[in-house]
Amino acid sequence: MGGEQALTVEGDSQDLEDRVNNRTLRPVSGTFKEFMTEGWDSQEPEQQALESSSFTPARLQALGKRFPGERLVIPAGNLKTRNNDCDYAFRPDTTFAYYTGLGEDFEAGAVLVLNPVADASSEENQGATHTPTLYVHPRADQSTEDYYRSAQYGEYWVGPRPGLKELSAMTGIQTEDIAQLPDALAKDIGTEEGAVQLRVVRDADPQITQMVEDIRWENGCDDPDRNTEADGKLHEFAAEERMIKDSYEVAEMRKAVDATKLGFDRILERLPEAVDKPRAERMLESAFNSIARERGNDVGYGTIVASGSHAPVLHWMRNNGTVRNGELLLIDAGVEVNSLYTADITRTFPVGGKFSPLQRDIYETVLSAQQAAFEVAKPGVTYSDIHHTVMRVLAEALHNWGILPVSVEESLSPSGQQHRRWHACGCAHHLGLDVHDCAQARYESYQDAPIEAGMIFTIEPGLYFKENDLLVPPEFRGIGVRIEDDVLMTEHGPEWISAGIPKTVDDVEEWMAQRAAAAHQVRTEN
Ligand code: GLY
Ligand code: MN
Ligand code: MN
Repeated sequence: MGGEQALTVEGDSQDLEDRVNNRTLRPVSGTFKEFMTEGWDSQEPEQQALESSSFTPARLQALGKRFPGERLVIPAGNLKTRNNDCDYAFRPDTTFAYYTGLGEDFEAGAVLVLNPVADASSEENQGATHTPTLYVHPRADQSTEDYYRSAQYGEYWVGPRPGLKELSAMTGIQTEDIAQLPDALAKDIGTEEGAVQLRVVRDADPQITQMVEDIRWENGCDDPDRNTEADGKLHEFAAEERMIKDSYEVAEMRKAVDATKLGFDRILERLPEAVDKPRAERMLESAFNSIARERGNDVGYGTIVASGSHAPVLHWMRNNGTVRNGELLLIDAGVEVNSLYTADITRTFPVGGKFSPLQRDIYETVLSAQQAAFEVAKPGVTYSDIHHTVMRVLAEALHNWGILPVSVEESLSPSGQQHRRWHACGCAHHLGLDVHDCAQARYESYQDAPIEAGMIFTIEPGLYFKENDLLVPPEFRGIGVRIEDDVLMTEHGPEWISAGIPKTVDDVEEWMAQRAAAAHQVRTEN
């Protein structure tokens, strides 16, 4: 990146888009400009239909049917500054990814628009409600000045990237230059009979949301409460649609789980050398995260590596602790594959390779809560049913250990809930493009809705005894156990899609021994 500073001619004040002005001198002479557009062979980016492009038409059709006659605006989002002219890695907004089928880092600044078809048009006669168009930045290839001037799009900087032709080939959706977007959004907007209304996924890209607001304001449609509510319904509908996965999504989820299994293998291979090292948790985090980058797009969420007293910290992501023999090590991690579907798996390991009797007792309690929830999960039951099943198993165990200060029934009653001190989080959630997928859905279509075939969700009970918890016997303090697996509901009942990741006490101990032995062999051979 710093190489840019070697281009020394004179100061440049015209490139307002650029955030490098003060530290960089850029050549601007006509001779240089001409010289930079000559003598390059062309570089064509890939343009192949994505597998997802066979599945997006049905998604788009369902979306259009829900909002006939309205213009729907679904931005990808834009780059977020990390500092100065350095950005965070780009991940497209989930609603955009779902309806375009694009994954990886495609495509900052793009906007999907569903334009309502005209009354009595040939499209309408064929049953279409909308025409989808993807507005994107054109390629900045060797024939353009942006080639070497735009650090965001210029292919001198970022390599060949897909433009209009390529993104259309990838998605099967027609494309237009992003410069056309303001006019395309404003067309026929108004309050009169037959005028078009806009809805936008508000959170994805503040600039596009502002563009929509400005158009509304200019055309007399600027009722902020009504508009925000209408926009929210678009986001809500998209989230609820994602609850039932199509066959492509199920296959991507299986890939994510398989890659996550490899990540856990790598953690266990690294574990013996990490024991007692300062920041051993980071050593294990990086073992997992390296697989996430090798096999997938990235991690699906911040990897939790929590040993000993960190294990009961629900969102321990600092991961800077030591890992010591005798401790329980809780790891919650998931690989997000290129299509952006992620697994969400937690395993809890005995660091020395063998559970102590108490650790085993707590672990098997959590495992039996998970199994009980799995057995209850059938098409037609609700997340609340799963929750109550898990809670009963945990409350009974807490009672048997003498920890629960009230009876099991009193604790399970809405006015009690004492057992939640040791399990304050949820124990099941939808999973897919987002780790907490479908989060914009209504309560009645999530917690209280019957689980249906095609849904993918986690079951993740745990017990969390904080090291400073004076209400549990000292030997429980600083122990945290969570077991989390990913489930596909089928018409015939639930399927663990993470069944290949060991979890019984015996299987976990054997898995640890195998991976440690494999790593030892590699080390001695080298
Ligand atoms: N890893 C986040 C969760 O389990 O919900
Ligand atoms: Mn989870
Ligand atoms: Mn998790």
